[in-house]
Amino acid sequence: MTHTQSNLSIGFLSHSSTNPTPRRPRIADDDKPFSFQIDSASRDAPPIPLQLMDQQTKEEIGKEERESDDEERDDEEEEVEEFRILGHSMCLKRRRDGESSVSSSSYSSKRASIEPVIGLESRRSAVRAWGNQPLCVADPDVCGMMEKEKQRQFKGIELIASENFVCRAVMEALGSHLTNKYSEGMPGARYYGGNQFIDEIETLCCERALTAFGLDSDNWGVNVQPYSCTSANFAVYTGLLLPGDRIMGLDTPSGGNTSHGYYTPNGRKVSGASIFFESLPYKINPHTGYVDYDKLEERALDFRPKILICGGSSYPREWDYSRFRQIADKCGAVLMCDMAQISGLIAAKECVSPFDYCDIVTSTTHKSLRGPRGGIIFYRKGSKPRKRGILLTQGDGSDRYDFEDKINFAVFPALQGGPHNNHIAALAVALKQVATPEYTAYMQQVKKNAQALGSALLRRNCKLITGGTDNHMLLWDLRPLGLTGKNFEKVCEMCHITLNKIAIFDDNGTITPGGVRLGTPAMTSRGCLEADFETMADFLLRVVQITSTVQKEHGKLQKAFLKGLQNNKDIVEVRTRVENFATQFALPGLDE
Ligand SMILES: Cc1ncc(COP(=O)(O)O)c(C=O)c1O
Repeated sequence: MTHTQSNLSIGFLSHSSTNPTPRRPRIADDDKPFSFQIDSASRDAPPIPLQLMDQQTKEEIGKEERESDDEERDDEEEEVEEFRILGHSMCLKRRRDGESSVSSSSYSSKRASIEPVIGLESRRSAVRAWGNQPLCVADPDVCGMMEKEKQRQFKGIELIASENFVCRAVMEALGSHLTNKYSEGMPGARYYGGNQFIDEIETLCCERALTAFGLDSDNWGVNVQPYSCTSANFAVYTGLLLPGDRIMGLDTPSGGNTSHGYYTPNGRKVSGASIFFESLPYKINPHTGYVDYDKLEERALDFRPKILICGGSSYPREWDYSRFRQIADKCGAVLMCDMAQISGLIAAKECVSPFDYCDIVTSTTHKSLRGPRGGIIFYRKGSKPRKRGILLTQGDGSDRYDFEDKINFAVFPALQGGPHNNHIAALAVALKQVATPEYTAYMQQVKKNAQALGSALLRRNCKLITGGTDNHMLLWDLRPLGLTGKNFEKVCEMCHITLNKIAIFDDNGTITPGGVRLGTPAMTSRGCLEADFETMADFLLRVVQITSTVQKEHGKLQKAFLKGLQNNKDIVEVRTRVENFATQFALPGLDE
């Protein structure tokens, strides 16, 4: 297929357009050539060519047929439709050439009439041969790798706080025919046809998302299309800010997420949030491990961010949303919470809800929430509460929230294309479960297990940042044991326990990768209870001993340390015990 030519063009329309009643577009019927124009201030500005669609394969079309198609096109009339996309006037020129499209069946039927039936059949079956092959036949390589990953998940202990196991129903929706459909836009306002059932699914998903967090649709809206939480966060910035505007979130070494902005110590801008916006972090108090709210307030009043972000990746304690609200109001910022880590706990009312205080709340859908991999954005709508003083005088001075259109436009078309409908259906399934008593029981168990693991480590004289946890995660300071997070993580992995290293603040504020983060949602989804987490604590302590011994014998430096791990009998012994333990607990959805 050639990709060099397009039969679309796009340009901006002036607001003094002659057609005062714009209609919704029907863009890109794949077999109807048309041109597409967006008008800007000047009507005279030439349309900018845009390659939205490709013409059919030219090589396959006989010269004769092309000439006849060209003749037909000369007779075509152009139909002009005008419409608006979130405030932008646009105009769509569509050729009335339904039957004359080069991709049309006239071409194939001409060919068909001169081809023997047997040729047709063999071409048809050549195309259809792959349609119903199972994965193991279609691609044994990928299938084999997937099977190995399944065994890895089954035989290991998963303690990465961000991970979880989805159920069979979620996997069925994810691996479904819904991936076939394009549905750019919002329910009821799509660019392509055939979206009536996709609309039903997305609408249901949105309703369930609001229900899961106890929100009413007069005051909250939700966008379930972000492909990930990083994209969800970036969509919020894109919708609400101009390039270079200021945001403020928890510093990554303090447990924040890079999607809230991050510069390396040598000033390198790491995330889009820092490349396109100006980010200034606040930090935890290195002595207590809690957010230093007084310093945060001082910095926020100096820096005056337009968005203040609470929520992080490695923070084991409750967030003081009320204090964040006060600070946001003082500096005139929108208050956003990224609840990615704790959204499941919030839905089950096992953690304080940010919705009472925040203007915008984002999340991943695949961590404690136990849904498919993706992102979600909740935003306030309707009237602003009177008490919010300074917020009312911000921006356009309106007393109504204006997040909805801005955020929806930022998700699509600004940053994303078609939503992943299989993901949205799977999320709807997961959110249905979130509303059940069984899910509440699951989240309560996640918390009990975190407490049990924490107590077991503390009883064995281990040091936890902040001394414990209010949620599903523990930050284990390994420095008193003389270990680095990296070395401990490596030995754990060799023993078939997965967790991740984290930065720890020294007393003087210097950052060292001296700890690891542990989380309980994944193993709780496999049916583990408090006693099982006690057993896991024993495994972890055994890994501490092995890591210490290897460090003593070979040193902490990576090369020598890794050499010391080779053919280590203690590791083999622990790995066998870990696998015997883990395989007692079925993998949800893969329990065959
Ligand atoms: C608080 C927080 N926000 C955002 C993210 C990024 O999520 P995603 O991987 O969906 O982009 C994470 C990931 O761990 C996170 O912990």
